[in-house]
Formats: sequence, C-alpha cells, structure tokens
Amino acid sequence: MKKIKAALLGCTGLVGRQFIRLLDDHPFFDLACLTASSGSAGKTCAAALADAGATMAGAAIRARVIRETTAAEIIRSGARVVFSALPAAAAGPLEAELRAAGLRVFSNAGAHRLDENVPLLIPEVNPDHLELCRAQLRDHEGFIVTNPNCVVAGLALVLKPLTALGLRAVTVTTFQAVSGGGRRGVAAWDILGNIVPFIAGEEEKIVRETGKILGELAGDHVDGSPIEIFPSCCRVPVREGHLQSVSAEFDRPVGREEIRNALARFAAEPQQLELPTAPAAPIIVHDGEDRPQPALDVNAGGHRRARGMVVGVGRLRPRGRRCDFFLLLHNTVRGAAGGSVLNAELAARRGLIPEGDE
Ligand SMILES: NC(=O)c1ccc[n+]([C@@H]2O[C@H](COP(=O)([O-])OP(=O)(O)OC[C@H]3O[C@@H](n4cnc5c(N)ncnc54)[C@H](OP(=O)(O)O)[C@@H]3O)[C@@H](O)[C@H]2O)c1
Repeated sequence: MKKIKAALLGCTGLVGRQFIRLLDDHPFFDLACLTASSGSAGKTCAAALADAGATMAGAAIRARVIRETTAAEIIRSGARVVFSALPAAAAGPLEAELRAAGLRVFSNAGAHRLDENVPLLIPEVNPDHLELCRAQLRDHEGFIVTNPNCVVAGLALVLKPLTALGLRAVTVTTFQAVSGGGRRGVAAWDILGNIVPFIAGEEEKIVRETGKILGELAGDHVDGSPIEIFPSCCRVPVREGHLQSVSAEFDRPVGREEIRNALARFAAEPQQLELPTAPAAPIIVHDGEDRPQPALDVNAGGHRRARGMVVGVGRLRPRGRRCDFFLLLHNTVRGAAGGSVLNAELAARRGLIPEGDE
C-alpha cells in the first residue's frame, strides 16, 4: 500500500503529541504537515515540545517546522487525510472547510460528533457507522469521522459485549485524570490534594455520545440506543488514565463467568484485519483484587503501536440482575489520538481514503 499524506492539527497539545508518537513511521500514513496556534508556528517540533512530549517523536519529526493552522497551509501540504486535535471552537469551521476541499478529516474535537451523517466511531463497536461517510460524500468532496469523548471511548467499548447479555441501564462514576482537560486545563491549585466533583458538559456528553455509538445505523443517520446511562463525573489528581466505577443492570440475572468471558473474549473487525494500532484483544479482565490502577495499568496494549489501546476491567461483582466493576482507559491514547488513528486505519482498509501518489 502506498503511504497517504497526512496533516496533524494541534500537534503541540496533549493529544497532538500522542498523535506524533503513533504516526511516526506509520505503515499507512506519512506526516506531511504539523500545525498548532500562531504562538507555536515557526518553531521546530523539538523546540515547541521541549518537555517530556519531545521524547515521543523520532529525529525526523522533531526537526520539522510547525505551521499555522489554516486551510490554505494544510491543502498546500498535499495532505489527503487530516488528524485534528484542536479545541472544538477552532475545529468546527476549519474541519468543515477541509471536508469541502475533499480531505478526509479524523477529529478528536466535539464540534461535529453529533452531526447526523458524521460517524462517531469506535472501530470495535460500530464499524458499520463508517458507512455514513458515503452519505457525506454525496454532499461534499470529503468527509469527517469523529471519535468520542475520552470517557465514552472506554465505556462504550466495554458495554458493547454486554449488550448481548440483555444490558438495560448503566450508572457510572468517573475518576478522570488531569490530562483530560488539555495542557492548560486545570490549575494545580484547584486539583492538588483534591477531587472536583464536576466537569462542565461531561455528563451530558456521556449520555448523548454513548447513545449514538450503541445505536442502530438507519440509512443516513443513527437511531439512538435505548440503554439508559446515569453518569457522575469527578476530576482527580492523576496524570493519565480515566478510572470508572460502573454498575450495569441487565434484564435477567447474570453470572461472573459469563460477564468475564463476554469481555475477555471480545474481538472485532480491527483485530480480524490486524490494523496496525489495534491490540490483539481490546479488553483485558484483571483478576487482582486492587486492579486496574492508572499508575500500573494505563499503558496496556501488547505490541508497541497498541500501547495504551487496551481498556482494563476489574473487580467484577455480579449480584442478581446487576454487575458492578471498574474500568480504566488511557484518555489521550484509546480516548483520543489512538482511537482516531484506528478509525483512519479502518477507513483506509475499507477503501474510503484514496491512496497516495508517491
Ligand atoms: N485530553 C484528552 O484526554 C482528550 C480526550 C479526547 C478528546 N480531546 C479533545 O482533543 C482536542 C485537543 O485536546 P488536548 O487535550 O490536546 O488540548 P491542548 O493540550 O490544549 O492542545 C490544544 C492544541 O491546539 C492548538 N490550538 C489551540 N487553540 C488554537 C487555535 N485557535 N488555532 C490553532 N491551534 C490552536 C494548541 O497549540 P499551541 O500549543 O500553539 O497553543 C495545541 O496544539 C480537544 O478538542 C479535546 O476536547 C482531548
């Protein structure tokens, strides 16, 4: 397969630097353009990422000069695929402009997630929703594919195999890492030695986005899932990794072994196709009584490219029609950059991205 030229928007952010690591020497994509705000434009990647993030890239990428985030700059680079790690306000109009110019946009931002004909995709959960791209291609030269909010990226993945057991409702309390708010997201004074039981807009996103992802494709749109979701969100002083306490309610009594098997044996199209960023198994069930923990388990994944792509589940406690458990995901990898790269790999394998010329 010829490599496809790609642009990365927002390369200096916490999600952007994970993209750099994942796209460095990628078998499908060739990073032709890196952008950030006007404050970073003109600097090399190494200078702009002069903290721990700089170690994530190889020498060639570290020497690259960051461009301003304008449609003209991105189109001039020859990129056919765009990975967007911009804040939603900047992403919304620019992503639409790039779609109109024929580019295939894979976005982490919230701006287009709920647009009727835009897939909100987790490749293991709703790969059929990628067909919505064909509806977009009837009206536009290109398309936008989004990945969900970081909590939803782990929650919906774990709920998918449980739907076959008669899942009806889910109560979830989250313990979300500071990195979830971006580089300038949470002031140290507010979070050190503290827990903040509120994240603006997060609970609403969890309900709406999980409903769309677990919903049914119906022609040019998705009918939302009837599974009820009751979320409560907290910010905690953890660097990376969102832990979630989940209580799942079923329409019949459930046993530990059937829940464990449904989760541990779950595999889907990315595993069958052996996509480069797909882990061999997307869910690991931990048997240790104090796992999963962010400090120990957030980077699970198996091979190098899949590091941080596995969602950990532990402390399975079935009781009649309910089962309580914890889950953990890496918020900037499976919950952001890694999810987006996996979406693009699936789209490329399905022939939705024209191959490169070189
Ligand atoms: N963090 C997570 O766990 C997570 C998870 C899922 C989705 N997301 C979403 O992913 C996106 C990026 O999040 P993040 O955590 O990486 O944020 P971040 O650390 O604040 O990084 C934002 C990036 O966007 C650039 N930028 C900011 N304003 C811009 C503007 N007006 N024009 C052009 N570039 C601009 C920044 O460049 P400078 O460095 O030059 O300012 C930086 O590269 C957001 O939409 C977020 O909601 C984040």
